[in-house]
Amino acid sequence: MKILAIETSCDETAIAIIDYNERKRGVRILANIISSQIKLHAKFGGVVPNLARREHERNLPIVLIQALKQSKLLNSKMKNQKSKIQLKTKNLGKILERESELLELVVKKILPIGAPKIDAVAVTHGPGLAPALWVGINFARALSYIWERPLIPINHMEGHIFSAMLKKYGNSKQSQSSKIKIQKNHTPACAGRLYPIPYPALALLVSGGHTELVLIKKLGKYKIVGETVDDAVGECFDKVARILDLPYPGGPEISRLADTFNIKHSALDIKLPRPMIHSKDFNFSFSGLKTAVLYLTKDLKDSYLLPEVKAAIAKEFQDAAVEVLVKKTMAAAKKYKAKTIILGGGVAANSLLRKELSVRCQVSRVKCLLPSPAITGDNALMIALAAAITGKIIKRPQALKAEANLRLS
Ligand code: KG4
Ligand code: ZN
Repeated sequence: MKILAIETSCDETAIAIIDYNERKRGVRILANIISSQIKLHAKFGGVVPNLARREHERNLPIVLIQALKQSKLLNSKMKNQKSKIQLKTKNLGKILERESELLELVVKKILPIGAPKIDAVAVTHGPGLAPALWVGINFARALSYIWERPLIPINHMEGHIFSAMLKKYGNSKQSQSSKIKIQKNHTPACAGRLYPIPYPALALLVSGGHTELVLIKKLGKYKIVGETVDDAVGECFDKVARILDLPYPGGPEISRLADTFNIKHSALDIKLPRPMIHSKDFNFSFSGLKTAVLYLTKDLKDSYLLPEVKAAIAKEFQDAAVEVLVKKTMAAAKKYKAKTIILGGGVAANSLLRKELSVRCQVSRVKCLLPSPAITGDNALMIALAAAITGKIIKRPQALKAEANLRLS
């Protein structure tokens, strides 16, 4: 089954095409393109939803053509007939009535080319920023209509779970060159397999908008057993980075700075709280940790800007966040007798979190699945995988809506 997937829930415009063989649990990645808007939003210190929407409109047709070319599915010989184009243009006007810039590009660049050999179009329909989600959804509806292919809506968080299920893909040569770059990426076509998962599994999903522990009793059956009561952990990394005068996104910056910490150079003994670490439930709280960093910098006056002090704060903050995440995950794993722990979401790129979680899993003899660092951030490959394995075709694509607060269930 060949699936073309679209992801626009935040600030990455991403399209992937996979060929999934259910019997072998084998995946051929035919294309995996990500166009990041990070540089654009960095100026504002975070993602601006309407700016993201406008960029998705401009980028989607370009990213699609790249993905089709990369997968060799661009059907340049088969052209749509003029009469068909005229008829479809009229209806496309309705599907993309709120995306005038995208409509123009679709009519000019996509409508004239023939339908590629794919079986379905998948798209993220939530959670995420509503204006950004809508562009991807309406683009997917347009493709489904033009190519006469079914539509599969996918929960973005389910996608993050699937990132970790993909075994390192490609041969060593391919995987080296398949590292996703921040700007428009070209992953060479390569193959991979999905890990067999002993259930029940527990997923720790950590991103800019979410921090949740999800119990997976069997494939596609989810229950949120713990989540943040305030800020998401990625959001907290971003906010603390801003306090420390570091650029957006803050996660990788904090992590890099923490690595420069040298105990010999530090005369300071900085201690930050581990919020809710002893609570009996599996919920998290990160806003107090961020406030503690803010007060600490106020107490330290300008000296917090000294490189060694900044590094000490970054390290202690990262230690605190990771300690809480790992402790709660292992406690939930014990309670629910999880045989597998899955890590997913943008914060899954954090090397301390990866190390601590895998060490704890080894000690507890639980299988630990970490996503390849190339696919911890938002991408459409994970959406294509989720669609191929658990996705369901919807009967009325025209009724599909963006669901900014969609939850796993
Ligand atoms: O999943 P994602 O790409 O987008 C959302 O769906 O939110 O996650 C983005 C988040 C940002 O908050 C970013 O700062 C964080 O992931 N992040 C990290 C690291 N790399 C990205 N946080 C901690 N350490 C990292 N190395
Ligand atoms: Zn995400």
